[in-house]
Amino acid sequence: MSASFRLPGRAPVSDLPPPDPAALELSEQLQTRIRHEIEAAGGRISFDHFMELALYAPGLGYYVAGSRKFGEAGDFVTAPEVSPLFAQCIAHQAAELLGELPQGDILEFGAGSGVLAVDLLAELERLGQLPNRYLILELSPELQQRQRQILRERVPQLLERVSWLSQMPSRFEGFVLANELLDAMPASRFRHSEAGIEEGFVVWQEEGFRDHFARPETVGFSEQVKRRLAGLPVGSGGYVSELNLRLGPWFAALGGAFERGAVLLIDYGYPRSEYYHPQRSEGTLMCHYRHRAHADPYRWPGLQDITAQVDFTAVAEAAEQAGFALAGYTTQAHFLMASGLDELLAGSDPDDIAAHMARVQGVKKLTLPSEMGERFKVIGFTKQMKNRMRGFGLLDLRGRL
Ligand SMILES: C[S@@+](CC[C@H](N)C(=O)[O-])C[C@H]1O[C@@H](n2cnc3c(N)ncnc32)[C@H](O)[C@@H]1O
Repeated sequence: MSASFRLPGRAPVSDLPPPDPAALELSEQLQTRIRHEIEAAGGRISFDHFMELALYAPGLGYYVAGSRKFGEAGDFVTAPEVSPLFAQCIAHQAAELLGELPQGDILEFGAGSGVLAVDLLAELERLGQLPNRYLILELSPELQQRQRQILRERVPQLLERVSWLSQMPSRFEGFVLANELLDAMPASRFRHSEAGIEEGFVVWQEEGFRDHFARPETVGFSEQVKRRLAGLPVGSGGYVSELNLRLGPWFAALGGAFERGAVLLIDYGYPRSEYYHPQRSEGTLMCHYRHRAHADPYRWPGLQDITAQVDFTAVAEAAEQAGFALAGYTTQAHFLMASGLDELLAGSDPDDIAAHMARVQGVKKLTLPSEMGERFKVIGFTKQMKNRMRGFGLLDLRGRL
């Protein structure tokens, strides 16, 4: 099976290749840990908390335990892994912003394998526009380790500029970047039916985790859902979907520290009216295991990725509330093209046919509408900046938010 990025495209759970015994043993330990939490909480936990444990429980969660995750040998491929051109285009955008912020830092959230940091720093060095420091805030200690290793191997001369944070900095000036961070944040689930708005919980029944929808426990939950669904024709026949209640606190913490600069977030998702579309009546939750996508979040906890698409209207609202100004919203393809993708491709050595072909393949995967080009979106925000962010210069879809 070819390497896939994280997309809707559901495979039957029965088609999944079985994990090896050591991996299953880890999954069983995590399952026990989650069952204890459910028992201690009186029989159920919120879906948000389940997803948090499945992905980030110390030593056992998907992003924290040692499985491969990214790339062909892992579960899915992300844009920085597809081609260094992705990072190089972002470097051109970052270089312009850093030109206005001579003491500016870069802060990357959720740096995964570290390959984006490597290629971004290498291109900024070539452009003569290195940041003062390159900071990484990564929840997973195991991934921090991998990031350190790849940076040491590939850009040892720049390692002294890089440091890892354990929490939001208390003040920040520069460029914040995150690729596929928001979709990896735990999501809350809801059901809208004639019974009203119910919150999604997880229970343990008949030897497995099961969905359980009931009267909301989370403060202000119904109001949050109602606000998102206002005016949208989702009906009341049992419409299930997700919302990310962590976005507001995340942006509030970032905004509190942020003095001047820009934020760039790349992810898959939709503006609100498409996110809560009547046809998407089972939500956007998706799981990835060895390049197969399916919709069962309870399969092998800790061994598979669980993700929810991003409501970009909610992102814009949370950012504006935290004091940021929207700089633009566009597709990944348009962002990369506006950030110099053509020139970067033209600059490659055409006599090195293998390398040139690899770059062309990478461009196709990053930009074709049927690949990552339109499913992935880019949203940008600024604070106290003159720069308008060139990446939104070709097509700005903010009117859809
Ligand atoms: C889907 S992966 C994307 C990795 C990488 N950015 C890429 O594009 O390949 C999500 C990453 O975000 C990290 N993460 C999730 N929530 C986070 C948070 N609140 N702060 C920092 N990192 C987080 C995960 O550990 C993981 O490295």
